[in-house]
Parts: sequence; structure tokens; C-alpha cells
Amino acid sequence: MPRTLVTSALPYANGPVHFGHIAGAYLPADIYVRFRRLQGDEVLYICGTDEHGAPIQINAEREQVSPQAYTDRWHAVMKEAFEKLDIAFDNFSRTSLPLHHTWTRRFFTRLHDNGFILSKTEDQLYCQTCQRGLPDRYVVGICPKCEFDKARGDECPSCGYNLDASELREPHCKTCGAAASCKPSQHWYIDLPKLKPQLEAWLDTKRSYWKSNVLGEVDKFLAGLRPRAITRDLKWGVPFPLPEGADKVFYVWFDAPIGYLSSTVEWAEKQGTPEAWKDWWAEDVKLVHFIGKDNISFHCVIWPAVLLGQNAGFPLPDNVPANEFYNLEGRKFSTSEGWFLDIAEFMKKFPPDTLRWTLARGAPETRDTQFTWKEFQIRVNSELLGNIGNLASRVLKFVKARFAGTIPARTELVESERDALAETSRLYQEIAKAYERFSPKAAAELLLKLGAVGNKLIEKEKPFVVYKTDPARAGTTINVALTMLEQLAVALSPIIPNTAAHIFKQLGLSGTPAEHGWQAGQTPADPGGRAIGKPKHLFQRIEDAVVAKEVAALQAAAAAKTRESEGPETEAIAEAIPFEHFMATDLRVARIESAEIVPKADKLLKLTLEVGNMQRTVVSGIRTFYSPEEIVGQTVLYLANLKPRKLRGIVSEGMVLMADGPDGRPVFLQPRSEVTTGTRLR
Ligand code: MF3
Ligand code: ZN
Repeated sequence: MPRTLVTSALPYANGPVHFGHIAGAYLPADIYVRFRRLQGDEVLYICGTDEHGAPIQINAEREQVSPQAYTDRWHAVMKEAFEKLDIAFDNFSRTSLPLHHTWTRRFFTRLHDNGFILSKTEDQLYCQTCQRGLPDRYVVGICPKCEFDKARGDECPSCGYNLDASELREPHCKTCGAAASCKPSQHWYIDLPKLKPQLEAWLDTKRSYWKSNVLGEVDKFLAGLRPRAITRDLKWGVPFPLPEGADKVFYVWFDAPIGYLSSTVEWAEKQGTPEAWKDWWAEDVKLVHFIGKDNISFHCVIWPAVLLGQNAGFPLPDNVPANEFYNLEGRKFSTSEGWFLDIAEFMKKFPPDTLRWTLARGAPETRDTQFTWKEFQIRVNSELLGNIGNLASRVLKFVKARFAGTIPARTELVESERDALAETSRLYQEIAKAYERFSPKAAAELLLKLGAVGNKLIEKEKPFVVYKTDPARAGTTINVALTMLEQLAVALSPIIPNTAAHIFKQLGLSGTPAEHGWQAGQTPADPGGRAIGKPKHLFQRIEDAVVAKEVAALQAAAAAKTRESEGPETEAIAEAIPFEHFMATDLRVARIESAEIVPKADKLLKLTLEVGNMQRTVVSGIRTFYSPEEIVGQTVLYLANLKPRKLRGIVSEGMVLMADGPDGRPVFLQPRSEVTTGTRLR
């Protein structure tokens, strides 16, 4: 059996991991790894944080910490979240390690020596004010496809178009807002078109078994294949090795996947067998990358091209089971909008298996799916507790109470027992196939069916009733149900390993399901005569009040973020008025012809307005904010038919309309283009 190297996308170290990431790229991989190990296969599970690139440099600058300190923090947060969720990487590395830098340069040098690197000097966007190049997210502008005005240099967040910074309209510096200028800069590219024939030949061997969503993305990307820049004018990243580009770093998407290899090397070093990584990066190794759908082109085209271009006997991905997106209560997860659930907080309240089960059951395998608290409650109460927990507790408690804690002997089976055993044995094989084809969701569904077979058997044969007249008969049903529980425990151990281990203990089995192995679960030995452990509840019911509280807390957190981002509350709109009332107001465009200080009134200015060929006098309370000289010539909005009133002996004929600025200073509203004074507003 060949070795299998499993990876999960290296999470980008600029924020917490979300349920969405877990459901798409980490949990499915962890489940697959656990399953393959149960089958006795040799598997290594590799991950680490992706720590370079413009977004991290920008965020670190904003927080006034070094990018290294910034990623140190997120690396620790992510590592802890994965540990809490029992995502059992063999190694969780970091791309900021010197080891990774060395390997990235080595990969580049090999590509270069093998003739797959091009170099061009082209105009690049540059900020004169900040004195630096504007790669990727350092520049914003108008999207050429959808006209969204906050498109970034690498991607439009509105329409998803993968753009080239040179395509942005009205590009400007994200940091200081200055218009971007151009400056020639030399960059290095990987010659993807040159590798295309090899790529296509390899991809043709995958078409029969890769997911169709993955193949669709691959073909779209191949159709527009161009050389791709792998250098950037940034400070934070893997330094570029050639002297002509000594001020540059590698593009983050060039170095990140190399992290799969450098993390393996780090693993081997930590093991004390520094050469052992080579066993996992050999041609016959089955390499499986678990990712979210936004990473498909990188893992299925660019990264394989980089591997091919090494010509070093590295394996190419055997499969890339990419998943769709996972949302939260009908909306995308978003840290900045407060629409997320903190994993560490969640784990304080609910055991990891409850989340693993819910995410696996609703995994976004073929379409976008979502987490809802209501669904979480149902999965825990009626599936984990109502099906699996129920089978375990009713049977085990009965053994304790009526058979002094020793599993009763199996006598002759009745038909329903034989049928049930045949059915669970069939389901058990189906479950293996589901895991094999990367579908924890299908496996979880089948697991519930397996549990239901056991529960139905108990309901049909009623051992608790039969016991009173025929203890041996009742004991046989119990014995059969317990073999099913053992099967169930092994089969669900990849998804909910803690629960599986608890069931094993309560069944009186030694070791863990993982040590037991998949094969042993196919036809469990007759458990008769074995002493069971102490029956205990496997799960706790989640009450409606708990769910209501969590939903309210999520909504409150999001609302708080919205208020924060929108600044002070907007004044409510006044009561509706009839059209006639509006028409009764006479609003005009006017111009301040002259302005004078009103003696002994330190807040007032006397304004003389030009209103077409008329002249009007208005007393206005803006002296604390404006001097007369400043405002002469200013165009204003003028409410002309307000009843005149006397202020400090001067008759004020109407009012100049102004808006309060953010600091409380009244602001004049300026017409966008020329308007003749005296023109009425309507
Ligand atoms: N950091 C990327 C993301 O979060 C994934 C990188 S995967 C790797 O989308 F292969 F490049 F490491
Ligand atoms: Zn700037």
C-alpha cells in the first residue's frame, strides 16, 4: 500500500479560523486521515500557517507591530483552535521559518535552471507619497468588469474577478489615498504556457475521478493560461534570491504551497529522522490536498506546474477534494462584521464532537451550506443523543442492572437479529466507501442508519420485557445490539473520536477504536462474558433557551459592529408632510455678496445675498466658525420665504441652509456645477 500525504490549505495568519474553514478544509481532511489510519494505511497529515503577503504587512502596519509579531499571535490562536477541535495534524508549521525560506528559494532556483522562469520590466503602480510600489491589496480602484469602486489590485471583492493591477481604473494608494503613478519594475514569472502540455497530460489522468466542480474551475483557468508573476515589491515575504531583484520578495501564493513540503521537512527533523521527509515526497506517494473552492486554480494548476518544473521526482496531487463555502445563519462568516462564532468560546460550552458531527453532517461538499443554531440543536438532541446515545445507554444500563455488568451470552439468533446483523454489516461497508470518496456527510448519514438498525431491533424484540420470562432470549438481543454498538463506535470514530473512545470504554473493550482497526469492526467477536465499563451519558441535551441565547448574542455582536462601523446614529426622518407644504417653501440658490460683523453679537454675521437681481439680508449664527472674508463669494442654499424677524436690530429675511460637519462645524453645500443665483430649488 503506498503512503498517503494529506494536507489542509495553510490558513492565512491574519484572523481566526472560522467554522467555514473547518467544515471545508480541515475537518474533512482530519476525518479522511483518521479513516485511512483505521484501515492500517500509512498517512501523514501536514499543515501550517501561511504568513506572508500584502494583507499581513498592511494589518501589521495598522497595528504598529512587526509582521512577525502579528503572525506569531495568529499562529498561536489558530493552533489552539485546531487542537481544541481535535484536528490532529502531524505537524503544524509556519511559512516564516528560515527552513521554509530556504526551500522556497530552492524551488525557484530549480525552476529557473530548468528554463521555466521569465523576467519582464513593466510599469507597476507606485505611490509617490509613501514611496513604495503598490502590489495587490496596497492599491484600490474601479473594477473594469463590474465598476465596483473598491476593487483591489488582485481581485474585485464584489464580482470576484481576478484582475491584474494594471486593469484597475483610477487606481490609488490604499494607505494614503494618493493617486497611483507608474514606475517601471522588473518582475519574474513562471512560464505556465511552457508547462501546459505536461499539465494537460497529467490532468487527463484525473478527469475520471476528480470532483466536477474542481475540473470545471481547472478548465476555466487553463483556457486563459498566462505566465504568472511570482515576485512582488514588498518587504514582508521570502526574499528573492537573484541580485537583480534584491529588493523583492516572492508572491505569497508562490511560497505558500511549498509550505506543505517544508512542514514535512520540519516534521522529520522534530522526529529525529531528518531524511524521513523524502519518503513522503516520492513519486509513488498519494498526495491529497483538502481546500476550499477559492483555492482550486492554485492547487490544481499552478502548484502542480511548480512541482513539474522541479523535475525532482516529487509527487503530483492525486486528488484535490475542494469543498464549497459554509455560511452562518444565512450570511457569510465575517470577523469584521461580527458575524462569526469564536471557536475557543464555543468549545467552552459544547464538546468538540458536537461541532465535528454538525459540520460533517452539513459539510459543503457539493453546494454552499450553513451552520444554524437550530440545526446544531437538532443534530445534538435527535441524532447524537436520540440515536447513538440512546442505543448505548439503554443497552449498557440494562447489562449493568440485570446482568451484573457482564455481557450476556449469545444463544440462537432469531430472524430479525440475523437480518439486523446483515444490514449493519452492509452499512459498515457503505460507510467505508463514503469515507473513501471524501464524503463525511454521506458517512454520517449511514452511521445514523446503522444506529437506527440497533434501536429498531431493541424496539422489536423488547428485551426489557422478554427478560421477565426468558432472560436468555433477552440476553441474546442485548448481545447482538452490543456488537452493533461496537461497529458503530469504530465507524464513527473518524468523525467523533472522543465519543467513539467513550463507547469503547463503556463496552469494556481495551484500547481505542483507532487501535482496534477498521477490519475488526467489520465482524466484531461475540462479546458474551465480557465485563462492561461504567455506563455514562455520552451527550447533553441542548435546551431551546440555550439556542435562543446564542442566536441573540450573535445578532447583538453583529449589530454592535455595524454601529461601530457606521459611526453615530442617523437622525430619524421627520413626520411626512403633504406635497403642498413642501411647495410652500421657497428655496433658492444665492451667493454671499458681503459679510459683516454684528457689533456686540459674537456669534452673528450679517450677510448680504445676491438672489438673481434681488438682494436680501440674512443674519446668520456662524461667526464662531467663519470669518467674513472667508465666505464672501460662497454659493449657498437659501430659504427665502421665512417670515422676517429682527435680530439685534437687523431684519433677517430668511435663512442660509447648512449641514453640520462631523466636528459640529456648519458646512456650506456647494452645487456640483454652475447655477445662476435666484434659481428655485424644487
Ligand atoms: N492561505 C490560503 C487561504 O487562506 C491558502 C493557502 S494554501 C497553500 O486561502 F497551499 F498555499 F498553502
Ligand atoms: Zn500612499
